[in-house]
Amino acid sequence: GIVPVVLCGGGGTRLWPRSRLSRPKPFLPLLDDNSTPFAATLARCADDTLFAPPLIVAGAAHLHHVEAETSQISGAQVIVEPAMRNTAAAIALAAHRLDRDAVMLVCPSDHFIADTDAFRRAARDAATLASEGWLVAFGIAPGEPETGYGYIRQGEPLGAGYRIDRFVEKPDKARAEAFLAEGTYYWNGGLFAFTAGTYLDELAMHRPALAAAVGEAVAQGQADGAHFHADPDAFARIESESIDYAVMENTTRAAMVRVDMGWSDIGNWKSLQAARRHDADGNTVRGTAELIGCRNVMVDSDGPRVSVIGLENVVIVIDGDDILVTSAEGAQRVGTLQGATPA
Ligand code: GDD
Ligand code: MG
Repeated sequence: GIVPVVLCGGGGTRLWPRSRLSRPKPFLPLLDDNSTPFAATLARCADDTLFAPPLIVAGAAHLHHVEAETSQISGAQVIVEPAMRNTAAAIALAAHRLDRDAVMLVCPSDHFIADTDAFRRAARDAATLASEGWLVAFGIAPGEPETGYGYIRQGEPLGAGYRIDRFVEKPDKARAEAFLAEGTYYWNGGLFAFTAGTYLDELAMHRPALAAAVGEAVAQGQADGAHFHADPDAFARIESESIDYAVMENTTRAAMVRVDMGWSDIGNWKSLQAARRHDADGNTVRGTAELIGCRNVMVDSDGPRVSVIGLENVVIVIDGDDILVTSAEGAQRVGTLQGATPA
């Protein structure tokens, strides 16, 4: 079966005050049913006709969250990173622990996906291309010129998908607008499929030092039951870079499958609002609140009752002693608040 490689890391400062260093986005009960994005990611891959047990890559600091949600999953394995070195390294750790021919499905755990069947169909198509030696991304029809995503340009048809002509990670606004106008660009959904061998070969080709450092962290690492601990000293020397910049922008073997699965990156309060259930006026409420004459207002309170009159496009979040009030557009900038940046 396809091996789900579930990544969880990152600070998630843009969902402050709910997200904290100790509790990043994957482990927050953000979804309507109170499940966490991490649990939802595991649940999507819990189909043994298609998937093998998951391999989870997580930081040592978050291990207790991981344990809480994986202890019941038989065959689940966990790779522990002594520090965060971004996704190129995290994925390489997982690849080293698998057979070269194993097909990995890299799953970020910071997304919302509404249509599990569409996800599984796309995973099956991507896995076929992956076993033929392609590095497969998942193309999402772009809604707006968002600069926080990667953009992929659809090329020639290839099996159930297409070649990728061009992969541009996080373009500036002007380029993102030009990509949308051109009509042949998709958002990169952050999921990838390839064999372990293909990924390690491409990483060694494009980032030899990074690849070698991960190799050492694995060679000197320690297996302990269902856990594998990468070596802290070797790991500390690894360059911090994402798979998008390190491999996907550079490889000539990039392919894509297009998928319409109700995908939403829960990147900030505004995108979380879009993923949650709304009332007829577009308001979403968690906790106790009274809204009069409001539209597109989001309230998320862990205690205090919130009363709002006559506002539009506003986000209000209360977490303990912290209160966030922002316009919907301002939600992008929450991470720049001093309060959101741990000292
Ligand atoms: N284990 C581990 N270790 N996981 C990590 C690390 C790390 O050092 N760094 C990031 N992750 C996890 C995050 O928790 C997330 O689930 C996933 O890897 C992607 O990392 P992000 O930091 O959230 O990336 P991004 O959102 O800026 O960009 C990526 O996703 C976009 C879609 O949401 C890129 O792939 C973009 O091209 C893509 O459009
Ligand atoms: Mg992300």
